Amino acid sequence: MEKFDFIAGDPRFSGVVPFEKKLWLSSPTMHGDEQKWVDDAIQTNWVSTVGANINEVEKQIAEFVGVRYAVGLSQGTAALHLATKLAGEKLYGQAKPNAGTLAGKKVFASDMTFDASINPIAYEDGDAVFIDTEYDTWNMSPEALEKAFEIYPEVRLVVIAHLYGTPGKMDELKAVCDKHGALIVEDAAESLGAKYLLNGEWVETGALGDYNCISFNGNKIITGSAGGMFLTNSREDAEKVRKWSTQSREAAPWYQHEEIGYNYRMSNIIAGVVRGQIPYLAEHMAQKKAIYERYEAGLKDLPVKMNPWDAEKSMPNFWLSCMIIDRDAMAPSVRGEVDYLYRSEPGKSSPSEILDAIASINAEGRPIWKPMHMQPIYRSHPFITAEGSGRARSNAYIAGSGVDVGADIFARGLCLPSDNKMTPAQQDAVIDMIRRCFA
Ligand SMILES: Cc1ncc(COP(=O)(O)O)c(C=O)c1O
Repeated sequence: MEKFDFIAGDPRFSGVVPFEKKLWLSSPTMHGDEQKWVDDAIQTNWVSTVGANINEVEKQIAEFVGVRYAVGLSQGTAALHLATKLAGEKLYGQAKPNAGTLAGKKVFASDMTFDASINPIAYEDGDAVFIDTEYDTWNMSPEALEKAFEIYPEVRLVVIAHLYGTPGKMDELKAVCDKHGALIVEDAAESLGAKYLLNGEWVETGALGDYNCISFNGNKIITGSAGGMFLTNSREDAEKVRKWSTQSREAAPWYQHEEIGYNYRMSNIIAGVVRGQIPYLAEHMAQKKAIYERYEAGLKDLPVKMNPWDAEKSMPNFWLSCMIIDRDAMAPSVRGEVDYLYRSEPGKSSPSEILDAIASINAEGRPIWKPMHMQPIYRSHPFITAEGSGRARSNAYIAGSGVDVGADIFARGLCLPSDNKMTPAQQDAVIDMIRRCFA
């Protein structure tokens, strides 16, 4: 039996015609200028980790985000690693060559995010403590963060990601961090172009933390095929990250090293692709917003909601459109570590059923990023909810306790095809599949 034969045999899905060409979750969109800048790098022989494209994209992104310095790096993950290391060094001093700057230290971190946000804590030998999510923006809960400081008052570093391009509650999160004297590593990998109203002023994500990171990964709002940046207002921090990213070479005629180094610098070829993409950021955001609004309208009368955002204090970049099924419209479903099972019920559905239904017409959705506290690799790490420790409470003996917002959004939510090249007709076909799931 072919993977989706069961859907073909289900009368709810009769007559559907799969797309000939796969509809992606979020694929790169090239415009032609990228080729020009890549060719320029090749023709001038600046194909390594120095050149006009790097200089130009660092300047343009710093200006756009509203920070003084941008340092081009090989990936967002590299930016997050060096940002986290820099924060660790600032807080706890320079580590020995064979130790991380966060050795023996706890770091609070967004729980519902991609693991690249928080793995750098482990690269630096720190221990991530995961902070639960809130329902209003699907980002770190300020309440849970405050609770975490009650439990671990010694913590001085917090890694905050903006999920799917929607800014978190940065005014509240920053207030909690300020109160406890903690620094923020901001992971704006998914949210370039999204803004937040902070103290009456609109601030771009990527300028909201003490150490800020963005990504140009192939699935992001603009891409370099790969690449990332560290963003800061501190010249010293920018210089340090630039030095670390180029093997920590000192200013000597020979290879001289006082610190551990990394080969993390952005290539001038990659920077050429980014340079060609920057002029289209606004266009991509407008396309993504239109996609979000079309889903919102098309799914309006179903028992589902779109991923939420704060219309007063934020302007997302709408990188991914997501939906969450109302509790009473969830059909039974379970997920193992790698497999899943669900049952269909009239008027109800589940993320797994919808993702299969979408996949059967050759379109790519994705489960919500599985929260870090649920990941096998981090199962021994603390997880703090608005109520306190969220560990060992899934069968809590006190009725109504044991909240786990991240696990709930993971169970009921999913990411919808959000490619900015998707046509309205294609999107309507996806919406039609979702409607059929609830038939
Ligand atoms: C939230 C988040 N952080 C970090 C990264 C890592 O960025 P990169 O792929 O450029 O290393 C990604 C995506 O890839 C991401 O979605």
